[in-house]
Amino acid sequence: MASKFTVPRGTYDILPKESYKWEYIEQTFKSIVKNYNYQEIVTPIFENAEIFERSVGNTSDIIQKEMYKFQDKKGRVFALRPEGTAPVIRSYIENNLWTDSPLTKLFYIGPMFRYDRPQAGRSRQFSQFGIECIGSNHPYYDAEVISIFYNFLKAIGLKNYQVEINSIGCPNCSENYNEALRTYYKEYINQLCPDCKSRFLKNPKRLLDCKVDTCKKISKNAPLILDYLDEECKKHFEQVQFYLNLLKVPFIINASIVRGLDYYSQTAFEFINNNLGAQNALGGGGRYNGLIKQMGGKDIPAVGFAGGFSRLLLSIENENIKIENTNQSKFFIVNLGDSAIEKTIEILNFLRKNNIKADFDIEKTSLKAQMKLADKLNSTYTIIIGEDEMKNNEFTIRNMLNGSQQSINFDNIKALLEL
Ligand code: HAM
Repeated sequence: MASKFTVPRGTYDILPKESYKWEYIEQTFKSIVKNYNYQEIVTPIFENAEIFERSVGNTSDIIQKEMYKFQDKKGRVFALRPEGTAPVIRSYIENNLWTDSPLTKLFYIGPMFRYDRPQAGRSRQFSQFGIECIGSNHPYYDAEVISIFYNFLKAIGLKNYQVEINSIGCPNCSENYNEALRTYYKEYINQLCPDCKSRFLKNPKRLLDCKVDTCKKISKNAPLILDYLDEECKKHFEQVQFYLNLLKVPFIINASIVRGLDYYSQTAFEFINNNLGAQNALGGGGRYNGLIKQMGGKDIPAVGFAGGFSRLLLSIENENIKIENTNQSKFFIVNLGDSAIEKTIEILNFLRKNNIKADFDIEKTSLKAQMKLADKLNSTYTIIIGEDEMKNNEFTIRNMLNGSQQSINFDNIKALLEL
């Protein structure tokens, strides 16, 4: 059946044969973050565009090229959210969440939107899971946030990735560093791409994030931020490493991490899976101490991360990790002949009331068609109720995994709960 309607480029349907995997990731993530006392926050999918322009940064690719920006019927300018941190902070300020407790730990799961060239691991609508720990500048929380991501990936069973950390310093360090970058890049200015020429003037740190080959080559020998950290940032970074060791999170220092969003200060980190090709970041995050004040709130520090569902699923597939298919039905009842239907519905009701997945098909009459369906639904047990069973007052159960059969009396359907 061909339809002239297709999903928009860069988006995809999550079909039942995949959706149980998404549910598993979501449940695992929720159970891990709840152990650390994170609570769920849900914000709208669109926000005032300015929220992102002011936070993610006007020189970032997200704002320059990738944001889905539109006007509503009254001319208000909105954007489909390209990321989750700015909306969470908008809500934190708007709802005075700091008055509830000094430390606010929030998590979110949901779709984000970026207009970029689609490729493996990169789409225009994608789902993120993320956390924001708001209210403390203690380096322990940088390490804890990283360890939560680490423990989440561990719970899923992933092995092929590494934790890469860096410090990008505070505005104080950035002044000297930006100067050093400009001095270095000056002699290459004519070789830079047009975007980088503008980055050179407006935000030199972004030069390190360019994906164009010549710019990437030039950036290889650029000065490193770690050599420009002031004493406070240096100490903070050392402490983060101390706590990461204490929390038993293996990591490497990658001085070239700058992150694609402008709100970061000090700690920046990424979880990298090199088997994923160009889109190799399972997730990333960092500290963003200036953002809340910049968005009109108090001067409150924060740290967080977000990861992407699709890259996680690609990694799960690459590593051959099996996820239990919770979509499959435990019981399928094959019913033959008119007299069987009442018993069939009675047993179905009993099973479903007891929270057990069970199904049948009232339309298919032949044994063969029903057995085929039981197979397709991947049911663990098939119950057969036909005229013989009705006469003998017992039904047959077949274990579809090992082929064994047993008979159970209709008066003893409770026995099904033991299987
Ligand atoms: P981000 O690095 O822009 O950070 O995105 C986090 C993760 O989202 C990426 O590592 C990737 O797994 C996934 N992702 C991003 N873009 C796409 C895409 N086009 N297609 C598929 N997956 C994608 C942030 O968004 C920050 N808000 C993270 C954060 C939270 N920092 C502090 N708190």
